[in-house]
Amino acid sequence: MIKVPNNKMDKIINLCKRRGFIFPGSEIYGGLANSWDYGPLGVELKNNIKNEWWKIFVQQRTDVVGLDAALIMNPKVWEASGHTGKGFADPLTECKECHKRFRADQINTSESCPNCGAKESFTEPKMFNILMETHLGSVEGEKSLAYLRGETAQSMFVDFKLVADTMRKKLPFGIAQIGKSFRNEITPGNFIFRTREFEQMEIEYFVKESDWEDYFHMWQDQMISWLTHLGVNLKNVHFEEISEEKRAHYSSRTIDIEYDFPFGQSELYGLAYRGDFDLKTHMEHSGKDLSYTDPDSGQKIIPHVIEPSFGVDRSLLVALLEAYHEEDAPTADKDEAAQRIVLKFPKWSAPIKVAVLPLSKKEELTEVAKSLYEKLTKQFACEYDETQSIGRRYRRQDEIGTPYCVTIDFDSLTDKAVTVRDRDTMKQERVAINKLENYLAEKLIA
Ligand code: GAP
Repeated sequence: MIKVPNNKMDKIINLCKRRGFIFPGSEIYGGLANSWDYGPLGVELKNNIKNEWWKIFVQQRTDVVGLDAALIMNPKVWEASGHTGKGFADPLTECKECHKRFRADQINTSESCPNCGAKESFTEPKMFNILMETHLGSVEGEKSLAYLRGETAQSMFVDFKLVADTMRKKLPFGIAQIGKSFRNEITPGNFIFRTREFEQMEIEYFVKESDWEDYFHMWQDQMISWLTHLGVNLKNVHFEEISEEKRAHYSSRTIDIEYDFPFGQSELYGLAYRGDFDLKTHMEHSGKDLSYTDPDSGQKIIPHVIEPSFGVDRSLLVALLEAYHEEDAPTADKDEAAQRIVLKFPKWSAPIKVAVLPLSKKEELTEVAKSLYEKLTKQFACEYDETQSIGRRYRRQDEIGTPYCVTIDFDSLTDKAVTVRDRDTMKQERVAINKLENYLAEKLIA
C-alpha cells in the first residue's frame, strides 16, 4: 500500500501527482513556484467541469450567450476599468530580517514574522498593483506595454453592444466566458488555490436597475445548485457579506461564497452587483455609446450588472476534496491492503468513466477486451489496463474515480458476458456483452 501523508491537502497533492492529475510546473528545471500543470486526468476533469458549466449556464439557458475574447486587450481597457490604479492593488509588507513578503491585510503586522519569527520587523505597507504586464512587438525599444487580463469580465463589457445587437438580446440577458486570467499575487499558495495564472468562468448578467436585487438572489440560488451538482456538501459552504471597505472598487454589493478548505475558510466563488460602473466607465473612456434602448419605453438606459464569478481551479480543488474518501474495503486479494482510497466524483465529472480489464494477459482474453475497449471508448472516456492483479487494478481505478470497471474473464468466452463493478458500492453484476453499451449509458446518465 502507498504511504499517504496525514494532512488532507498533502494527500490530495500526493494523489494528484501519483495518478496524473496535477504536476508541479517545469519540474525538471527545479519547478517554478506556485505553477502547476494539469496532467492527462486533470485536463479531463477540468474540461468536464468547464463543459458542464457551459452546458448549464449557456447552452441550456435562453438568456445567456457565450464569448471567447482576446486575452490581451487594449491597455486603455484596464485604465478605464480601474485595474491599473489602486482598485487592483494589494497592500504589501516585507520582513526586514528574512525579506519575505506578505499581504499586510492577511497578517498582523504588530506580531512576529510568520516565516523567521523576527519581532516588529515589517516595513510600512505599500500598495502593489497585481495586473501582470507584458510587452507587444518584436523591435527592442518599440515594444508597447500591455497587460495579461486580470479578469475575464472586462471583454464582456467592452463587447456588450456588439453582443446585444448581433444576438438581438433583450434585458435581462447575460454574457458568459471561460478563460485564463493573470494576477501578480503577493502570496500565491495552497496548491492550485491561489496562483498567478488561473482560469475563471464568469457571467455578466445585464438587468434594469430596478430589478437588480431579484436577479442577485436568482444567481445566488443558481450558484448553490451548481455547487450541489459539483458534489459539494453545502455544510462546508458559507455565504459572507463583504463590507463596503473590503469590496472591489466596482462593486455595490458582494457575497463571497466561501468553503472550509483544509487550510481554513476561504473564498471559492464571488457574486457581485457591479451596478452600471463598468459600462459607464467604458462609455466615458472610449467615447462610444454603450447604452441600451428599452423596446417597451423607447428610453435609453445603461444596464446594471450582476456578476457570478467561478474559479475553475478552485472548483476542481473542492471537487477533489469532496470526492476524496478513505474506506475499509476487505479484499480476498492477498496483494491488496484492506483499505482503499476512492474519489467519489459525480459520474459526469469523473475523468475516466469505464475501465476495461481482462482478468489475465492471455491472448484469448485480451483480444476480446481490446475490441470491447475500442468500441466503448468511442462513447465514453475509457481506459484499458492489463497489468498487475485485478485487485490492484480496481484500487487504481478507485483512486482516479472511475465509476465502472468491466472485467473480462474466461467465462466471458462462453457466456458472452462481463462483470461490471460499481466504484461506490463495489458490487459486481454480470452483464451480457451485447447489452453493455446501453447498460453503461443508462448508469452514467443517471
Ligand atoms: N470578475 C470578478 C473577479 O474577478 P475575484 O473575486 O477577484 O472577482 C473571482 O475572482 C474568482 O476567481 C474567485 O472567487 C476565485 O474562484 C478565482 N480566483 C481569483 N483569484 C485567483 C487566483 N489567484 N488563483 C486561483 N483562482 C482565483
